[in-house]
Amino acid sequence: MPRYAYVNGRYLPRAQAAVDVEDRGYQFADGVYEVIAVIGRRPVDLEPHFDRLDRSLAELDIDAPCGRPALGLILRRLVWLNKLHDGIVYIQVSRGVAPRNHAFPPFGTRPSLVMITAPRRPPGEDAVSRGASVICMADNRWGRPDIKSVSLLPNVLAKQQAVQSGATEAWFVDRDGLVTEGSATNAWIVTKNREVVTRPLGRELLAGITRAAVAEAAKMNNFKLVERPFTVEEAKSAAEAFITSTTSFVMPVTSIDGDPVADGAPGPVTRALLEAYRRKVYGAEGEGA
Ligand SMILES: Cc1ncc(COP(=O)(O)O)c(C=O)c1O
Repeated sequence: MPRYAYVNGRYLPRAQAAVDVEDRGYQFADGVYEVIAVIGRRPVDLEPHFDRLDRSLAELDIDAPCGRPALGLILRRLVWLNKLHDGIVYIQVSRGVAPRNHAFPPFGTRPSLVMITAPRRPPGEDAVSRGASVICMADNRWGRPDIKSVSLLPNVLAKQQAVQSGATEAWFVDRDGLVTEGSATNAWIVTKNREVVTRPLGRELLAGITRAAVAEAAKMNNFKLVERPFTVEEAKSAAEAFITSTTSFVMPVTSIDGDPVADGAPGPVTRALLEAYRRKVYGAEGEGA
């Protein structure tokens, strides 16, 4: 267990770190979060994560708990205290502590800031070769999954259903049969003429930081990037499919609802994008899996 957690101004031994029982994050899921990868002690894409955190807070009218430089300092100090080499930092900001009442506290509250770390190795060659199996299900989330809210119950239940059926990830599908995103990943396909396709950003999906980095890598590597929705049927008959996230990087999808995608092995475009993403996060040497 990492030694320290940060809670509202204090770096506490992990076992003593706690929030108030009337924290609105705990009672109402009235809060937002970020998960940031740390590779070789360095946070990956820190500014884009902080930008998204600011946006989530603004959308919910929650004050920033501190300025961005202070947030960066806290994060780096925690990484140092916990001797974190490869892993993640989890940041949660809630509206704060107040007597339980659905409406916002009338006199405002100080937002609560919690940060924890966890060691985690980036996906290695074994995981990439195996790929991810995906099952599809109706998107039953609220109307604003673009906000990175801690209210994740539908995502939790979807992922659990995937795990119980022996799959890796669940893809949410909207009323028109179009894939929105995964329970904790963005969804992509590669068409037979090597177009790299992902759903355009909108209120119905999260603007993944890895999604943005991979979209950039696709363009830099001369792949045609097309932002449009796709159906489950199109994904099943695509040349390749993959998912992206802070912790799964670029992970091939080798089956959808039990049907293999193409020959059921990771495809060349997915592998090229994974390599491009690894080069970005590891630096020029491309230190590998
Ligand atoms: C619903 C959802 N979509 C997409 C993602 C991928 O986002 P990122 O690449 O910023 O990790 C996540 C990550 O947690 C997520 O929860």
